[in-house]
Amino acid sequence: RIGVILGSGLGSFVQNIEVESTLPYEQIPHFFAPTVEGHHGRLILGTVSGVPVAALQGRIHYYEGHSMATVVYPTRALAMLGIETLIITNSAGGLDPGMQPGDFMIIDDHINLMGDNPLKGPNISQFGPRFPDMTEAYDRKLNEKMAAVLEKNEVRTWRGVYCGVSGPTYETPAEVRYLQMVGGKAVGMSTVPEAIAANHLGLRVCALSCITNKAAGISSGKLSHNEVTETAKAVEQKFSSFL
Ligand code: HPA
Repeated sequence: RIGVILGSGLGSFVQNIEVESTLPYEQIPHFFAPTVEGHHGRLILGTVSGVPVAALQGRIHYYEGHSMATVVYPTRALAMLGIETLIITNSAGGLDPGMQPGDFMIIDDHINLMGDNPLKGPNISQFGPRFPDMTEAYDRKLNEKMAAVLEKNEVRTWRGVYCGVSGPTYETPAEVRYLQMVGGKAVGMSTVPEAIAANHLGLRVCALSCITNKAAGISSGKLSHNEVTETAKAVEQKFSSFL
């Protein structure tokens, strides 16, 4: 019923699943194992409070050199398994100067700056239309629900626009100023392809970012993948229990 994509260092949600089966990506045709440290690669099928859940623990990214079609293959596989709702999680850099590492952000909308689109090429009409509407790419009702639960649990939460970039470089400070100017609140290297493919498939989508760091140039230090994974690890339990 529900699909979940667990981002870097946010995989411990699987402890809350009554697991029925676990499949390493290597054993699933056309799935690829993530090459990045901090990313597992397995599909977990089970239930949470009796609700059937299919969780992707770890994802592959566009910057790893895969085509967009390969990046969204697991999302489409979840849809073929029958999910109605997709919950996407990720780690992201905070573009709002008020954001602190460990804050959460509910994604209200996105800007695709990856320079590519998973629906490019012949349309797969069994999946959806040629020109999918993206007016409410992230389900408003689910977002309100998320906001209410996060508030009840007193989690520092933001809402806003996620800018999807290709990476693998982190942004320059000039790029961060640009993203702030165009209305972005968080920046990351995932989620946009999956959200596009899921909308094409007619799924209800919601997404939650863990703000792992201030975006480049906002604080004086340099960015590192270590900082990103360490922050994600520090809030992993909170993130998982919320989910
Ligand atoms: N930029 C892009 N992607 C990210 C960041 C960032 O600052 N932090 C985590 N993923």
